[in-house]
Amino acid sequence: MTSGGDAAGMNPAIKCAVEYSIQKGLKPYLIYNGLKGLIDGEIRLATMADTENIIHVGGTVLHSSRSQRFFEYDYRKQAYDNLQYFDIDSLIVIGGDGSFAALQQFYKDFGIPFAGIPATIDNDIPGTDYCLGVDTALNMIRQSVDSIRDTGQSFGRAFVIEVMGRDCGYLAMASALACDADVCIAPELPYDLDSIGERLRKERERGKRYFSAVVAEGTGMGDYLTRWLSETLNIDARLTTLGHVQRGGSPTVRDRVMANEFAVAAVDSLLAGHKDHICVYKYGSWGYKTIDEVKNSKAKIGENLLSLCAGLSK
Ligand code: F6P
Repeated sequence: MTSGGDAAGMNPAIKCAVEYSIQKGLKPYLIYNGLKGLIDGEIRLATMADTENIIHVGGTVLHSSRSQRFFEYDYRKQAYDNLQYFDIDSLIVIGGDGSFAALQQFYKDFGIPFAGIPATIDNDIPGTDYCLGVDTALNMIRQSVDSIRDTGQSFGRAFVIEVMGRDCGYLAMASALACDADVCIAPELPYDLDSIGERLRKERERGKRYFSAVVAEGTGMGDYLTRWLSETLNIDARLTTLGHVQRGGSPTVRDRVMANEFAVAAVDSLLAGHKDHICVYKYGSWGYKTIDEVKNSKAKIGENLLSLCAGLSK
């Protein structure tokens, strides 16, 4: 099942989970439309034909949803009855924070074991350094910011580029570095507009024509910073909100390879008898965390990335 915000890499993960399960003698089913489909019984047996021609496709061929109904016990009971009907005894959930919280409750209610595969462009699942979809999203951002640079340089303008990530600044910081942005504003970075202003003024004096600022959506600073650049620094400034383009696109090689690793880890987790584990990739190694460990901690940006970006917010 895929659930919550779609992310590139979900399809390669579905493909590998199905194929590896069959290889292990299991009988995998597909649940369509995420939690909604779990409630409404949109479930069918998977075949190898389902995994053909999906590796390069963005989004999720199983479709996804965010379900309010799943918060209600009666609908969760309906979902449980569906699983009983199909004789399904465990779940693999490819999704983010909200989906894992839903499954944590479902496990508490009915004891259905599950394995979670972190997939969200926000990269905000505690305990794992990587979530599926992040690399593809970063490459979409990189391509857009490179294009904006062409017009910005030609016109001698400043561009503020707002990127997704909900409350997490990972996409903003990684793309600011990758695109050589002049400024990065993210929830995890303390910023100082006076010193940013002083720095940009000096750079303009020495002839720099184009300035870019990558802003994380969670800061809500996009509009303000654009006006500030115009009014305080007198630079012709524009705001580009990248929006859902960041969620699309063919999964990158990294997302395809990571999807395979995560999917194998998820099937192995269930075969090892884990009941409520999330597959994690930390410091270059694979492992598992219980859902309680994940839910009881907070996602943190790595110290290296924080210090590499510190100079972009002051
Ligand atoms: O969680 C993924 C994400 O793309 C966030 O970065 C963003 O804030 C949100 O989902 C957008 O949600 P929706 O697709 O429901 O507008």
